Amino acid sequence: MNISIIGTGYVGLVTGACLASQGNNVLCCDLDSAKISDLQKGILPIYEPGLPELVTRLTDSGNLSFTCEMSETVRHSTVLFITVNTPTLENNICDLGNVLEVIKGIADHMASYKIIVHKSTVPVGTGRKAGDILKALLAEQGKDLEFDMVSNPEFLREGSAVNDFLSPERIVIGTACEKAAAFMMEIYKKQRRNGVPMLLTGLETAEMIKYASNAFLAMKISYINEIANICELCGADAVEVAIGMGLDKRIGCKFLSAGPGFGGSCFPKDLRALSGLGKSYGYDTGLIDCITETNRRQKRRMVQKIAAAVGSLKDSTITFLGISFKPDTDDIRESPSLAIIRDILDKNARIRIYDPKALDNLKRQFPGLPVTYCDNAYTACEGSDCVVLATEWNEFACLDFKRLKSIVSKPVFLDLRNVYSPEEVKAYGFHYEGVGRK
Ligand code: UGA
Repeated sequence: MNISIIGTGYVGLVTGACLASQGNNVLCCDLDSAKISDLQKGILPIYEPGLPELVTRLTDSGNLSFTCEMSETVRHSTVLFITVNTPTLENNICDLGNVLEVIKGIADHMASYKIIVHKSTVPVGTGRKAGDILKALLAEQGKDLEFDMVSNPEFLREGSAVNDFLSPERIVIGTACEKAAAFMMEIYKKQRRNGVPMLLTGLETAEMIKYASNAFLAMKISYINEIANICELCGADAVEVAIGMGLDKRIGCKFLSAGPGFGGSCFPKDLRALSGLGKSYGYDTGLIDCITETNRRQKRRMVQKIAAAVGSLKDSTITFLGISFKPDTDDIRESPSLAIIRDILDKNARIRIYDPKALDNLKRQFPGLPVTYCDNAYTACEGSDCVVLATEWNEFACLDFKRLKSIVSKPVFLDLRNVYSPEEVKAYGFHYEGVGRK
């Protein structure tokens, strides 16, 4: 099937490449001509395992191509996926400017029936509103054309997005129209054949499933972080508590890893948008706001933990292993490490950082940040008063503690991701602290 993708950010690229890998003929469009020109040469704007190989293979085979031309994109297929950025504004309102620009572009170039699928996370009601706007624009232009709106939220995790797309746990399709639903069934026929459950529902419900899912996962994290903090006070072990809780199938073991708080481009933004949505109806979103507040406090608590471990932050040298918001990505958006580092810098500590993939992003986005960038974990730990394992990259899971001990200034190891067992690290003569454990 011919498929068009509008917006070649993270979601658009993964969706486009994966749909092309399933035999479709996919055209991806973006207004950013530099980005499109890079993509045409096989240069990707993000680091995502498996994606570069997929893009190169499918571009070579002709199943995947890139353009800046909206007219060509709209003409290319009946099904148009919208995957543009939807930032949340200061007042917690989701900025739909990009979505509305795309709708305008579609109206300008539409000449036949279209199914418009929005995959970007947008407030409940956006699909219908976008449909109303498109209808009005077509009428203004004297075009008597039909279209259907579909909400097909993405559940991709950075670092495993390709697999999440090809083998998802569920596919949600929100539309009131049978014809559009049939097209979507055809697009996802491989996943359906593999037994992936598909939920057919209304537009608004599909939009809400996305927000409700992300907010729930974020709630699990804030919840276990709160439990972990109490564990520290009363001598329980949060890692074992999470295992014990997770054995109850009603709770489940996933997303119960205590740590420095959640980050990334989704949870913080979506919580703000969900809160804004509730409040726009005069509803007090107490629980949602509490998740965000607990997350904010968790990052502050990590700063206090580091300060307590070194005595005084002033003039101390603190090493950060990991700056991305999670492993297997170079994304530093709302990374907890970043918030902690800024706070520590304010207290006049010196910072040394190593991350396997995200250092370039850090340098680019915060050019004046007074930190020392290092080439590997051991260089970063030289002369350190406290080593902070902030992101659980695989390569930090087998550190040579004997070597570390010989190069640090003080043997203090703060494992903010509970990667190691306390005994293991203490055996090398380190002062060890995890999150929620002694
Ligand atoms: C999240 C969701 O997991 C995806 O299902 C969703 O599609 C995506 O947002 C989105 O809306 O686009 P992502 O932001 O890539 O995916 O990352 P997650 O793996 O969910 O992790 C988010 C944050 O929570 C990270 O900072 C991670 O370190 C933290 N986390 C996660 C914990 O602190 N503890 C856990 O147990 C799990």
